[in-house]
Amino acid sequence: MEKLKKRSWAEPFKIKTVELLKMTTREERERALKESGYNTFLLKSEDVYIDLLTDSGTNAMSDYQWAGMMLGDEAYAGSKNFYNLEARVQQFYGYKYLVPTHQGRGAEHMISKILIKPGDFIPGNMYFTTTRLHQELAGGTFVDVIIDEAHDPTSLHPFKGNVDLQKLENLVKKVGAKKIPYISVAGTVNMAGGQPVSMENLRQVREFCKKHGIRVILDATRLIENAYFIKTREKEFENKSIAEVLLEMCSYSDGCTMSGKKDLLVNIGGFLALAEHEREVFEEARNMVVVYEGLHTYGGLAGRDMEAMARGIEEAVNLDHIRARIGQIEYVGEKLESIGIPIVMPVGGHAIFLDAKRFLPQLKQIEYPAQTLASEIYLDSGIRSMERGIVSAGRNKETGDHNFPKLELVRLTFPRRVYTQAHCDVTAEAVEAVYEKRNSIKGLKMVYEPKYLRFFQARFEKLA
Ligand code: F0G
Repeated sequence: MEKLKKRSWAEPFKIKTVELLKMTTREERERALKESGYNTFLLKSEDVYIDLLTDSGTNAMSDYQWAGMMLGDEAYAGSKNFYNLEARVQQFYGYKYLVPTHQGRGAEHMISKILIKPGDFIPGNMYFTTTRLHQELAGGTFVDVIIDEAHDPTSLHPFKGNVDLQKLENLVKKVGAKKIPYISVAGTVNMAGGQPVSMENLRQVREFCKKHGIRVILDATRLIENAYFIKTREKEFENKSIAEVLLEMCSYSDGCTMSGKKDLLVNIGGFLALAEHEREVFEEARNMVVVYEGLHTYGGLAGRDMEAMARGIEEAVNLDHIRARIGQIEYVGEKLESIGIPIVMPVGGHAIFLDAKRFLPQLKQIEYPAQTLASEIYLDSGIRSMERGIVSAGRNKETGDHNFPKLELVRLTFPRRVYTQAHCDVTAEAVEAVYEKRNSIKGLKMVYEPKYLRFFQARFEKLA
């Protein structure tokens, strides 16, 4: 008998409550797909078997977090959960000032409104849908300054989320630093495939921006997952804790926007946080939050939600948690890669990204290859994924033409602490089944297009 040599890791938790899943037939899925206009955002959750639409707000909370929910102090003003959250943000992210928001885009809205003047430019390491939209609504123009490797799904660069300093310098030369209120730097860049930024790069960005008087605002949504990649890929940090890496990352910025629905293991919540020297910006945000979200000690959240998020921070920086979290993504990635499925490499922090251009080379981009592939995967197995290609990229704000992004991807996004390794196996097998019949797959045409963030509500029909 062959010996088992490998020592595996396993999930650092056991399961206390379960939610039963409904299985559907192919006929039921065909009907559901047609009714939802071939848009996985419009499917009913009860028609989904394994839900890999997003890792946002879909996490499983721990008993420690649920216990904290019972300690919700639902006072309108000065809830003790707010002060607890503030203390955790100060401790783990190092920012002095906290303004809670209902979720990440609430914070993006405020920082954009406060810092951006019409005609300004906001560089970023690739766009994110809601982030860019708020920058545009404030009168700004987003400029992509991520390294070229990020746009190449086959490049094995270990930090594809890095900012290209040359691109940043070119922008400063072209428009002048005065027209650049801040650079927005995201951890594990979502639209690039969950790709991390290195500490070395963050230091360089900080140094460059300091020289030119440009702020650095982090999108801290998945910064803890980014910290894990720094620890495992940048030699200098191999013996540092995740918390130490996180704190150092934040030290190179002036503040952050945060969707707590990802890293922080909750179902709702976010915040804007600002460094000690940003008191004026903080005062403005603290005033503005009253208009759009709620009083500055709850920002659209219940006290119990703030408590769950405060406790989530403590759990999220635990190395065993984060190793298993990213280990699960790596497990699926290795499986798919071993059978020749085209995916974005290296595998990122929160999802597997299928390369729809290589998966369905017969489709033109305007036939929506990623949208098509997402609907085919649902049809095969009831697994729900998300388009991250031309539909998500929207239209050019000046010309009104489609943006044609280089990356045309389908995201299989893993909620934290929700699915087992068997769910992972079933998922890989479903993708394989669709890959086997890929030559017979036809594209889609868009028949309804909403004005903002069209990917959420657009409708499609199958091309004959
Ligand atoms: N920034 C990043 C990098 C995100 O991934 C998201 C949300 C946001 C900001 C906005 O935060 O949803 O709390 O308002 N991403 C979700 C996703 C929607 O599925 O990737 P929010």
